[in-house]
Amino acid sequence: MTRSEELYARALKVAPGGVHSPVRAFRSVGGTPVFMTGGQGARLRDVDGREYLDFCMAFGPMILGHGNPAVRESVIEALGRGWSLGTAEPYSLELAEYITSRIPWVENLRFVNSGTEAVMSALRVARAATGRSKILKFEGCYHGHADAMLLRAGSGLADAPLPDSAGLGALAASETIVAPLDDEAALEAVFDHHGKQIACVIIEPLPANYGLLPQRSEFLRRLAQLAQQHGALVIFDEVISGFRVGFQGYAPLAGVTPDLVTYGKIIGGGFPVGAYGGRRDLMQLVAPVGPVYQAGTLSANPVAMCAGLAMLRALSDGSVYAQLEARGAQLEHELESVPGLIVQRKGSVFWLCLAGAAGAARRRGAGNPLLRSPAQYPEGCAQRYVAIYHPLLARGIYLAPSAFEVGFICAAHSSADITGLATAIRAVCGALPA
Ligand SMILES: Cc1ncc(COP(=O)(O)O)c(C=O)c1O
Repeated sequence: MTRSEELYARALKVAPGGVHSPVRAFRSVGGTPVFMTGGQGARLRDVDGREYLDFCMAFGPMILGHGNPAVRESVIEALGRGWSLGTAEPYSLELAEYITSRIPWVENLRFVNSGTEAVMSALRVARAATGRSKILKFEGCYHGHADAMLLRAGSGLADAPLPDSAGLGALAASETIVAPLDDEAALEAVFDHHGKQIACVIIEPLPANYGLLPQRSEFLRRLAQLAQQHGALVIFDEVISGFRVGFQGYAPLAGVTPDLVTYGKIIGGGFPVGAYGGRRDLMQLVAPVGPVYQAGTLSANPVAMCAGLAMLRALSDGSVYAQLEARGAQLEHELESVPGLIVQRKGSVFWLCLAGAAGAARRRGAGNPLLRSPAQYPEGCAQRYVAIYHPLLARGIYLAPSAFEVGFICAAHSSADITGLATAIRAVCGALPA
């Protein structure tokens, strides 16, 4: 028995599925979750002393790699001053100023403790601002686990037997409208029917929770245009794409200025932080100024604020993004000739779509577009991912244990690390049945 197996047996007795977030369990790939003791740079080490090249990167926040010295220093300094004050303090001010001065459409923001909380709060603001209750979201987009968002949400739910969650209030289902991605006609139909009741449209501008589904800018712009025409707000959920595809996230790439934005992951430097922000007039609806109540005992925790600031400072000049783009392009190039593999990529976010025989015909190199909605996924891609998952793990590659989670490249991945991943993928894909 490995040490991971021993710990897993104990964990099963005290926590549902032995984990504290379902995507960490190995239910969809089978076997025992690997218990990690820590990470350094691009590598994780498990309790049995094995090392892995990490491409899960804590599901996104660790854009600089594990144990980044600048972030560590700032955390140690912050700890020395005290780690929870429950008062006004200068650290959240500094981080808020840093962000608002670099992202013009984030005029005001409020820190919370997770992406889920950020989304939940932004929806509340949108409902208060418009006096409407319906929310439009998109199939395959995940926005955290608030009731209203747990419909057709992808990722941890994508390969579960049930598409939704149990325990949702009836209101969640009746007030949330779900539209397909990449489909302007469907969007127009939704607005024709419900336009005057929709408080907001929420979308991951770079949907990255059900594989990776880059959207056409025209689609995102049409969405914003329809929302504006019907008096609905646009919320860009940039929990993954914020500070990841560029410091300002995806909004400038889409050419859309959202009314509200939600952040998580990178913004806290790997500590539990989320934020929602946007137009000042909307954010001024939030307590204590306005009638929208939202609060948090541990919000804007000083250690997390300092970690976030150290991370954002390292990202602001853009050089990290240039390096990440180069590594991403290298990965794509090195995987180009793998039969049946479609690599969906935006910067340092990638998704391996194991399309099998259908893949050859759909390759981007052959002039085919990116996959843009879950309906376009080739049959059997999840099963093929399961088939390569453990062989990759045995070769020391740690990917997210779910076919529909994306991979992340970090600043600590060297060119040789990328080649290591590509070589391992080529080897295990070669062993797959056609
Ligand atoms: C786009 C998006 N929104 C919201 C969330 C929820 O964030 P958290 O897990 O911090 O609650 C996630 C989490 O993966 C996400 O990817």
